[in-house]
Amino acid sequence: GAASKGDYRHFMLKEIHEQPMVIAAALEGRLGERSALVESFGPEAEALFRQASQVHIVACGTSYHAGMVARYWLERYAGIPVQVEVASEYRYRQVVVPEGTLFVTLSQSGETADTLAALRFARERGYLASLAICNVPGSSLVRESDLTLMTQAGPEIGVASTKAFTTQLTALMLLTLALGRVKGLDERVQADLVTALRGLPGLVARVLELDPEIEALSMAFAEKHHALFLGRGALFPIALEGALKLKEISYIHAEAYPAGELKHGPLALVDSEMPVISVAPNDELLDKLKSNLQEVRARGGELFVFADEGVGLEEADGIRVIHLPHVHEALAPILYTLPLQLLSYHVAVLKGTDVDQPRNLAKSVTVE
Ligand code: G6P
Repeated sequence: GAASKGDYRHFMLKEIHEQPMVIAAALEGRLGERSALVESFGPEAEALFRQASQVHIVACGTSYHAGMVARYWLERYAGIPVQVEVASEYRYRQVVVPEGTLFVTLSQSGETADTLAALRFARERGYLASLAICNVPGSSLVRESDLTLMTQAGPEIGVASTKAFTTQLTALMLLTLALGRVKGLDERVQADLVTALRGLPGLVARVLELDPEIEALSMAFAEKHHALFLGRGALFPIALEGALKLKEISYIHAEAYPAGELKHGPLALVDSEMPVISVAPNDELLDKLKSNLQEVRARGGELFVFADEGVGLEEADGIRVIHLPHVHEALAPILYTLPLQLLSYHVAVLKGTDVDQPRNLAKSVTVE
């Protein structure tokens, strides 16, 4: 039957809260004891993955941000060079395809016109094979790809993508583990990632419990016209996704920067009217991020930091800190997406916009 909002005020909020369940669904039957099951990608996957010497990822919108995260993961854990591009650029240029390149599309709907056209273009370019990571079974993208992995998020009604994104990331971590396995990734590293993935739905549920705290933060944004999101490494695409969510549903202009680029331009914009949101899990980049945050504070910018409970980053004048439970470094991009989804949701509700159907946007862009 037609999807229902249940007790939730908006589909978007319902879909945010479904994430522990759908991430578990995306993992179901795809993990072995200490490694990912390569056959989840299809019976020919193992032979094809062995031949894969690089990966090209193509997608649009939020799905593109998932692809950007996957580049960090695949290069780090599978040791394979990766290119990521938006479909509307990729399909119109003279792409060079080295031998043994796996072509990967990411799409919630499987019907996005540019992504589908990119796949059709790629089929003529001598790729090793095409893989679609998609949420809609039987969609055009799924029917026309050699290999498929369904994200199992269930129907997503809110135009702003939430659970489709975190299940794409989950699927991309499975791809990282599958490629890592055939490329000889250290078995202990594989086993640690598998254990971390099994714990992920529970951690996501704990982050959702921060909702009242995040709702309280949202007041600081409702009257603002701009916001700046910062992240480093695989959290940079999460900063981009946080900025996209805020733009889409609250109509506040938002930008995202890798924190190290702050001094090359956006610092000039920082003042008390420009809230700065930063995602700071506990990884090797944290010390660098801390000094970036000081640069913002020194200019009167109001800071909102989502940080690991172990980083020792305390609230201070002009710095609000929300602590997230500790997570395996590799999975931080998934966990840190949630507070940014909740933040933009609450800001949009405060502003009174049409959260599930933002102006000028469509759930699935099937025209060019
Ligand atoms: C539209 C939607 C976005 C989505 C993008 C790509 O712009 O509003 O939420 O990320 O299309 O859609 P896809 O179905 O290919 O993931």
